[in-house]
Amino acid sequence: MENIFTIATFCLHDSDIAKKIEATHRARALSVSGQLSYKSTDPVFNISKTKFPEQPVLLSPKEMPKRKFNTQTGKVAFFHALAHIEFVAIYLAWDILYRFRNLPEQFYQDWLKVADEEAQHFQLIRAHLLEMGADYGDLPAHRGLWDHAEDTAEDVLARLAIVPRCMEARGLDVTPQMINKFEQQQDEKSVHLLTRILNDEIGHVEIGSYWFKVLCKEKGLDPDSHYKKMIKQFYVGKPKGPFNRELRIIAGFSNAEIDWLEQKL
Ligand SMILES: [Fe+2]
Ligand SMILES: [Fe+2]
Repeated sequence: MENIFTIATFCLHDSDIAKKIEATHRARALSVSGQLSYKSTDPVFNISKTKFPEQPVLLSPKEMPKRKFNTQTGKVAFFHALAHIEFVAIYLAWDILYRFRNLPEQFYQDWLKVADEEAQHFQLIRAHLLEMGADYGDLPAHRGLWDHAEDTAEDVLARLAIVPRCMEARGLDVTPQMINKFEQQQDEKSVHLLTRILNDEIGHVEIGSYWFKVLCKEKGLDPDSHYKKMIKQFYVGKPKGPFNRELRIIAGFSNAEIDWLEQKL
């Protein structure tokens, strides 16, 4: 029987895009059919050993070229940025299940499902880019996304608060507005793609909220106040609003958490 941590080790330490996607889909299929072992055997490498492809070149947000959304070049740049977010999201899902051991099997199954959906998102956006005459790696991409993973590599509650419940949750706030913009441009293909991704992302944040609460309770911590503590400790400043309360509630946020996020620092 194949082992989830052996496949995770491969996906995080080999930079080949096609092989990573294939391995991710294969692992998920094995998991669904009950043919995957969750026994923790392989050693856990330091997060600094994670390998990314040489392309795209990574730049700091300040170095990223500005783009206008209503031009074809702007649209390509937008989907390239999104392809990068989805690509890093494959790593983020693999890393949370790889790094934090001795948790219930369901934890690993949940994050493997997320990894598989992120790989699907990446493939869908890449196909969309190819139709527009571009490909992933053609443009520079945002360097900062992985920083949050490195900062929270020692603490699963910090990881859950910052990655699914902060970075991915931000997608729930901003994606509906992007969908509106593409609707105005009558770009149905982009609307369809972003709607599909948004629906899956609600599920990812929900999985993050679920495990955050379960693991807080196991440690005797109050989830609402521990969320605030993690944000204060691991996030520079406070997450930017406006917040989509309706979608965040579906994704497991409490009204009290959203009220707190809405208050100025
Ligand atoms: Fe995604
Ligand atoms: Fe996601």
